[in-house]
Amino acid sequence: MAGNRAVAYKEPGRVEVIDIDYPEFELKDGPGVNPANVGRQVHHGAIIKTVATNICGSDQHMVRGRTTAPKDLVLGHEITGEVVETGRDVEFVKKGDICSVPFNISCGRCKNCIERKTGICLNVNPDRPGSAYGYVDMGGWVGGQANYVLVPYADWNLLTFPDRDQALEKIMDLTMLSDIFPTGFHGAYTAGVGAGSTVYVAGAGPVGLATAVGAQLLGAAVVIVGDMNADRLKQARSFGCETVDVSKGHPKDQIEQLLGVPEVDAAVDAVGFEAKGHGEGAAEAPATVLNSLMDVTAAGGSMGIPGLYVTGDPGGVDEAAQKGSLSLSLGTGWAKSLSFTTGQCPVMRYNRGLMQAILHDKVHIAKAVNAKAIGLEEAPRGYEEFDAGAATKYVLNPNGYLPA
Ligand SMILES: NC(=O)c1ccc[n+]([C@@H]2O[C@H](COP(=O)([O-])OP(=O)(O)OC[C@H]3O[C@@H](n4cnc5c(N)ncnc54)[C@H](O)[C@@H]3O)[C@@H](O)[C@H]2O)c1
Ligand SMILES: [Zn+2]
Ligand SMILES: [Zn+2]
Repeated sequence: MAGNRAVAYKEPGRVEVIDIDYPEFELKDGPGVNPANVGRQVHHGAIIKTVATNICGSDQHMVRGRTTAPKDLVLGHEITGEVVETGRDVEFVKKGDICSVPFNISCGRCKNCIERKTGICLNVNPDRPGSAYGYVDMGGWVGGQANYVLVPYADWNLLTFPDRDQALEKIMDLTMLSDIFPTGFHGAYTAGVGAGSTVYVAGAGPVGLATAVGAQLLGAAVVIVGDMNADRLKQARSFGCETVDVSKGHPKDQIEQLLGVPEVDAAVDAVGFEAKGHGEGAAEAPATVLNSLMDVTAAGGSMGIPGLYVTGDPGGVDEAAQKGSLSLSLGTGWAKSLSFTTGQCPVMRYNRGLMQAILHDKVHIAKAVNAKAIGLEEAPRGYEEFDAGAATKYVLNPNGYLPA
């Protein structure tokens, strides 16, 4: 049986590549596995040999010690790979298929899945609706920053690429279908972006940049990306975005300089609960982005909120934040009749269409997010550089499929 190396969370600020078991068609006990999920039979699953598996800002929340993730939790929810084994009950997916794995684990059978709300599947996580690979409080499904990973409900979850050679040729783009491209697109879509929209995206990390690409694809007239990280803002300008530097203050004034009015039609939070305040050297202030988006979104507009908010944060700035309670000026949003969309992106709603956009050269997401492949054993360095704010989306290459 093949060996299986995997990236595990060790303690705040540290991941390590460790040996784990090769997957079986059963969810075994291990770090973070919900007791009610232990021993769960997964004959509907497939074993995937990873082709590409990306490091995400969502992983960083755990690695920074900002969640209750247990030691030795195997990380990785952004998975693309080759099917090497299928369980007894798999009918359609077959060995040799190259597939994108939506980061949401979903059953395809519950009320929410039937309504395409796969980010809140009712059957995969005993703790709460919604699940993901390699993530705290998500049921304990083993992460895919590894050589091999088990994907449950394979016929339902896997998006098979139409042609193997073409898939491997465009793999650095296609690997973004497991999370950030659909997530960014969802942020823009749920913010109501359409032809001619003016858009503000808070955050120039990979999700913010993917949101900007999504907004462009949806026909936005202008996409303004805000961050305090100069390299990331430069990356946003590289594909036609305008930028605002929030270390210079509230984005409203800079938006006014760009558009002639201090507001946009649509706004997206691609930052989440570790948001910093506006202004030079501002400290963490978790409600900053939500409050500023309510300020800058035109009355009647919508806000897409893919940025993650938690119910418990050991490193929160105050007692309220530690329970996930933020000080929102909801009155502003109410007075302007704003709409919000929060939560996990239901990846399956968008991944097939975005795959076609990639395969037909309508979009170049890897270039926009500056995707870079590194070896699995180099993951600790990838985490470190990403945490330090590199304008790079790190893609791990556990099995040598990716071009050097
Ligand atoms: N909803 C989903 O399904 C989903 C999926 C993937 C990621 N996420 C979440 O999206 C968020 C972004 O992910 P990422 O990988 O790009 O993370 P990231 O940490 O790389 O990027 C966040 C960026 O926000 C910037 N920032 C901080 N405060 C800011 C402020 N006040 N205004 C503007 N920018 C500010 C940071 O400098 C950083 O560049 C994370 O919270 C992540 O967990 C959600
Ligand atoms: Zn992710
Ligand atoms: Zn379901």
